[in-house]
Amino acid sequence: MTPQTYLTENKDRFINELLDLLRIPSISADPAYKESVFKTADEVKKRLIEAGADNVEICQTKGYPVVYGEKIISPSSPTVLVYGHYDVQPPDPLDLWTSPPFEPVIKDEKIYARGACDDKGQMYMHVKAFELMMRTNTLPCNIKFMIEGEEEVGSDNLGTFVKANKDRLKADVVLISDTGMIANDIPSITVGLRGLCYMEVEVTGPNRDLHSGIYGGAVANPINILCEMITSLHDKDNKVNILGFYDKVQVLSAEERAEMAKAPFSLDEYKKHLDLSDIHGETGYSTNERVSIRPTLDVNGIWGGYTGEGAKTVIASKAYAKISMRLVPDQNPEEVKELFTKHFLSIAPKSVKVKVTPHHGGDAAVTPTDSIAYQAASKAMETTFGKKPIPQRTGGSIPIVALFEKELGLKTVLFGFGLDSDAIHSPNEHYGVFNYLKGIETIPHFFKNFAEMSK
Ligand code: BES
Ligand code: MN
Ligand code: MN
Repeated sequence: MTPQTYLTENKDRFINELLDLLRIPSISADPAYKESVFKTADEVKKRLIEAGADNVEICQTKGYPVVYGEKIISPSSPTVLVYGHYDVQPPDPLDLWTSPPFEPVIKDEKIYARGACDDKGQMYMHVKAFELMMRTNTLPCNIKFMIEGEEEVGSDNLGTFVKANKDRLKADVVLISDTGMIANDIPSITVGLRGLCYMEVEVTGPNRDLHSGIYGGAVANPINILCEMITSLHDKDNKVNILGFYDKVQVLSAEERAEMAKAPFSLDEYKKHLDLSDIHGETGYSTNERVSIRPTLDVNGIWGGYTGEGAKTVIASKAYAKISMRLVPDQNPEEVKELFTKHFLSIAPKSVKVKVTPHHGGDAAVTPTDSIAYQAASKAMETTFGKKPIPQRTGGSIPIVALFEKELGLKTVLFGFGLDSDAIHSPNEHYGVFNYLKGIETIPHFFKNFAEMSK
């Protein structure tokens, strides 16, 4: 049977299997879902075995396990290491979902569920593409799967796993579907990811919550102070106002920027899609540049004081914020963490105490376009989309990409089939049935091209 016939005959089952996987709430951030996360790992193991993988193993870590599996066809064939993650983001705010996040439904040719695109849907394309190659006798490379369960919480234990399994993970290239493309009729391949430095701050004023009439005006209100401190983190050009923040930022040449500007983009559609009257960002850079080659600082959450029903006249004792910085090549997350901490403590007035705690971080990454693997991916997309994909940098982070390079000396191909509009991490996350099936169709072409071009 040809791969194409196999896909046509099995596509309904491929979809239903994904729906089953999406029913398990593998939320790695919330300890209440611990059992479900472990159960998802078991399920992934089962699916890899069914698809035809050997030596499938649940590898325990200090956190959630990594699922490993492989098919070695010949020691002389090239080896592709497929990475993905089976954990998902928390679904809240729940009331904004039009259908429950863990009861997947197909509406308008799209699968709605938490994890539909990020990353269960995209990860599972590889399992099904592998099944297809096994059943049609067309697997031309060795394949190794490494599917983790802590990506959405910073992959804390992955470094240890990779270092301890260097031999087992030996490969020629890493293949990851955990990013997006420009549009269903404009294929693209991601060639850059930003890094991340995530911090939490706590501002303490008086030692207890106070009556805002009795004390108001005479003591520092930590919420007011925190807001002032946060405001001062950007200057009038929307640049990050932290000493040394831009020191190591890799600067792109005018040619590189001109090349980037060729990618199709409509500012009107962008604004319309987000219901915005205007955009906002660093002076001197385009929207695409702002979300890919420039670093940023954003408050991800801020809280303190009274937020319940009605009104309470109070000066809170404490105020908090979670602040993340997206980094670009050559910025070091550890250094940025130090710079931020030093700066944030230095701008605190004497009337409050400030505590700064780091969360996770990760390096930015740029992947090559002149490699055999990139060419194999580009040709694969050209075959199935009928158009040559555009290389494009993106703003999200997948810290493992830099880690694979550092620990295993491996380059990655970011073979994503999602869309920015898929609402990953947001309510009503979805993944196009077209995208899911197109991924399953395109991946075997990558393997075929990579095997041929590696000869
Ligand atoms: N799949 C995303 C990253 C992504 C999405 C990159 C779309 C490019 C385009 C990944 O699951 C993710 O959410 N990463 C986190 C970082 C992580 C350290 C928590 C992110 O980018 O916020
Ligand atoms: Mn992801
Ligand atoms: Mn994610």
